[in-house]
Amino acid sequence: MRLNDFKLEVFFNKYEFTAPYLLAQSDCESMSIQELLSYEAGAEEQLKQLGLGYTEVPGNPSLRSQIARLYQQVDESGILVHVGAQEAIFNFMHVALEPGDHIICQFPIYQSLYEVAKSLGCEVSMWEIKQGENGWELDLDELKSLIQVNTKLIVVNTPNNPTGYTLNPAELQAITELARQHNCLIFSDEVYQGLEETRPTFFADLYENAVSLGVMSKAYGLAGLRVGWIATQNQEIYDKMVRFKHYTTICTSGPSEFLAEIALNHGDRILKRNREIIQGNQQIANSFFQRYPGIFTNNVPQSGPVAFHRIHTNQPIEQFCEKLVEETGVLLLPATVYDVEEPYIRMGYGRKSFAECLERFEGYVINRF
Ligand SMILES: Cc1ncc(COP(=O)(O)O)c(C=O)c1O
Repeated sequence: MRLNDFKLEVFFNKYEFTAPYLLAQSDCESMSIQELLSYEAGAEEQLKQLGLGYTEVPGNPSLRSQIARLYQQVDESGILVHVGAQEAIFNFMHVALEPGDHIICQFPIYQSLYEVAKSLGCEVSMWEIKQGENGWELDLDELKSLIQVNTKLIVVNTPNNPTGYTLNPAELQAITELARQHNCLIFSDEVYQGLEETRPTFFADLYENAVSLGVMSKAYGLAGLRVGWIATQNQEIYDKMVRFKHYTTICTSGPSEFLAEIALNHGDRILKRNREIIQGNQQIANSFFQRYPGIFTNNVPQSGPVAFHRIHTNQPIEQFCEKLVEETGVLLLPATVYDVEEPYIRMGYGRKSFAECLERFEGYVINRF
């Protein structure tokens, strides 16, 4: 197995903990352990009493049943807890795929969703989300045309990182039918679900051979817990992933599982807080883009905390972002980390500091364009 560099993480690793104005982040506003514990009477004392031994490989049963409440067709026997979403992606690809398999993956997308498959010797076809007149577009006929006899898996990320493209009910249904017809698995990265006003639809509820990916990092803003999970009705995939996990992390951190359960107990409140931050930032962003129509294409995200905007510049976009962060401390993500050549930048709307960071960016824009 040989893995290429994870371009996004390499770029972040250079600046994420030193740049003072983070304008690219995909996780929502976080909170302290103290604040999280204050959501539930008695939780602080329970945390102090918690043992620090190993936990159960699939995850604490009460956490798993709390997670299962998010789904309609999956109970706790289909929930497998992992260390973040990243471990689950890695483990799933390893148990589901073999060299020579063909997979179809939405593009652009978070790199591990296709890179791990490539490292396993799979052939990957990209199903492209394309720039349209009014934002991002996806063509279902194109997906159909990409199916081959050896297609084993369709990978989607909805809401999508980086575009914010979100599959609508008709698209969810059509992808499910296509996968069922061709006997393909679906891996649906749904780590940005939960920020909409309405209850999300998860692929794991729609399709018996789908695996849905969830996490505490993004919509809940609790990335430091490193708690993610898969939800599936497919018991064979589930069992293989349990056995694979014996080789990766064995189990998740007990204190993290405890805190994740508190957060999910109060999930509606946390998600509402984060939804309101995003909505406020979205308005600020829209009026910013209205001031500079010749410089940016404002791709308003359908949902989720990230957007992928075009900058009308001839400067290579990675160079633009490097100069920006070095001169102003404002961090944006260049499209090159997604293997996209056109000059797009990823912006994140989930943080309280958004207005301040955008103001710094505006100062730079005014001077440069
Ligand atoms: C679409 C997507 N999937 C998975 C992950 C990994 O999540 P985690 O950091 O919780 O492992 C990320 C992180 O940015 C992501 O954007």
